[in-house]
Amino acid sequence: MCGIVGYVGNRNCVATLLDGLKRLEYRGYDSAGIAVVEDSSLHCIKECGKVSVLEKKIGEEWPLWPEKACHIGIAHTRWATHGAPSCINSHPHIDSSGRFAIVHNGIVENYAALKRHLIDHGHTFNSETDSEVIANLISECYNGDIFAATAAALRQIVGTFGLAVISLEQPDTLIVARRGSPIVVGVGNSENLVASDIAAIVAYTKRVIFLNDDDIALITADRIDIRNIDNVPVAREIAKIDWSIDAAEKQGYEHFMLKEIFEQPEAVGNALRGRIDEQNITAILSGLSMTPREMTQINRILVAACGTSMHAGMVGDFFFEDLAGIPTSVEQAAEFRYRNPIIEPNTLIIPISQSGETADTLAAVREAANKGATVAAICNVVGSTIARESGRGVYLHAGPEIGVASTKAFTCQVSVLLLMAVKFARTRRLDRENAKAILDEVKQLPELIRAVLAMAENIRVVAEKYGSADNFFYIGRGYLYPVALEGALKLKEISYIHAEGYHAAELKHGPIALLEPKVPVMALANDIPGKDKILANIQECKARKSPVIATATVGDKEVESLADDVIWIPACSKYVAPIVTVVALQLFAYYVARMRGCEIDQPRNLAKSVTVE
Ligand code: AGP
Repeated sequence: MCGIVGYVGNRNCVATLLDGLKRLEYRGYDSAGIAVVEDSSLHCIKECGKVSVLEKKIGEEWPLWPEKACHIGIAHTRWATHGAPSCINSHPHIDSSGRFAIVHNGIVENYAALKRHLIDHGHTFNSETDSEVIANLISECYNGDIFAATAAALRQIVGTFGLAVISLEQPDTLIVARRGSPIVVGVGNSENLVASDIAAIVAYTKRVIFLNDDDIALITADRIDIRNIDNVPVAREIAKIDWSIDAAEKQGYEHFMLKEIFEQPEAVGNALRGRIDEQNITAILSGLSMTPREMTQINRILVAACGTSMHAGMVGDFFFEDLAGIPTSVEQAAEFRYRNPIIEPNTLIIPISQSGETADTLAAVREAANKGATVAAICNVVGSTIARESGRGVYLHAGPEIGVASTKAFTCQVSVLLLMAVKFARTRRLDRENAKAILDEVKQLPELIRAVLAMAENIRVVAEKYGSADNFFYIGRGYLYPVALEGALKLKEISYIHAEGYHAAELKHGPIALLEPKVPVMALANDIPGKDKILANIQECKARKSPVIATATVGDKEVESLADDVIWIPACSKYVAPIVTVVALQLFAYYVARMRGCEIDQPRNLAKSVTVE
């Protein structure tokens, strides 16, 4: 996720800004930059790579900065979304008149139209990013009041922003604004700071103001004036932070994994943002670079992935066959690359990879490309090897996933796969009414996930009741079968309990021999097709004295009467049930691992990205 730091006050801001960027490094980024106003000049230095590379470049290009009176500045760590990681695409961006510098977190959905307008009005651009548009828009709107210019510019933005602005026009004034991307103001004495994350500023002040959406703050060394985007003053309380710096990096969460579980409403929201075409009732996935006619010619889909990403692909298999009628299969990427797969010209290969660097999946991409297949990747890391070598695909925009156990990547991958399936299906037999019903529910996903997160305490109680087990079974059917596999993987990798995911119908073909009172079974019994069969499977497990925990649709008395414990899931269709239900299983695994005192973010033997065979 991108990071923002800003400062105005009596210190030399360069050191403060670099210190703030270093405290944001944990969030993952690919480039960094800084801009300051000093002696009526706007100095901007930025570089691909780590903050240490930027620091070295500052020392080389601006050796005298320690003696300079740099009392106002902004800085940024970039996690690429639009435009590959590069120096020119990194922030800050300066408008073509050279008067305004901005750093931006978020996505400007209408940047192409705005860019055309600005170019027609004589502005020039250097980068491929959407963010650079904001700098020139402010310049275009400026008529002597930096606050008013920023507000006027932001009123034209469709999308999200966490924004900081400095200028030569008002060199003592820092402007910040937020919509959908956090901005916090640090209140100091004769100095004030801003950041996208408390971790960057908590060393300087523990008094902070959290901006709300569409708040804009005008900040000088001794003044903070907050108004809304329509220039109406708003009152925001000063909060007192009692977190340590380490806790602040996790925004108060005990582990990155828990933070990433809880940020899934926003992550899935970002994965869906700008990708639903309300007019044509389909999905907007320009990264596929496929015309509708090319889509109609795809007669087979093959997903290649590993681990959690493979489980996401297995849900996608149901989507593509159910909705688009396209024969689909999912392969473990290592298997795919070595078994000389049959690939025809109209086969679409979909590699799925959060990191975009998994060796087996990358090898599968190369194997597919060598056989002339069309390859469209689903990745989270922009500019990653798999994304680049696939040549087309869809980014998750989920933000960096720090915890080794993948959580928000899975829910975003499945969300993107559902959009892809709808898009393909709308070039075939899926009618507007059914497509609208699915897309309307997709838009509810952040709220459905929040409903599960609201039950975290209940899930914790159930998890701690069964957390001492040495063996677990997870069983599911249909759309929830891959979720049973994913839930078992989560429990395995962070609690070290031996957990097996199984198709519910398969249990009686052998594994049921293992059931006994000390082997709990997690049965995914949501009220979607196949529920009646899973009820019978629960009975089978109970007959062998295994305790059964069931996920069930809120209010389902039938499941409640059968299971020993229930984890309630909001009512939803089979299409979104995998996304909503997995959140409960992520929390279950997390609370079991925490109870067992496991190292959750960095489990033993595991790496976040398996870049070796
Ligand atoms: C999942 O929690 C694991 N971290 C692992 O299975 C992971 O999903 C797998 O290694 C694939 O990684 P990728 O998505 O980055 O390719």
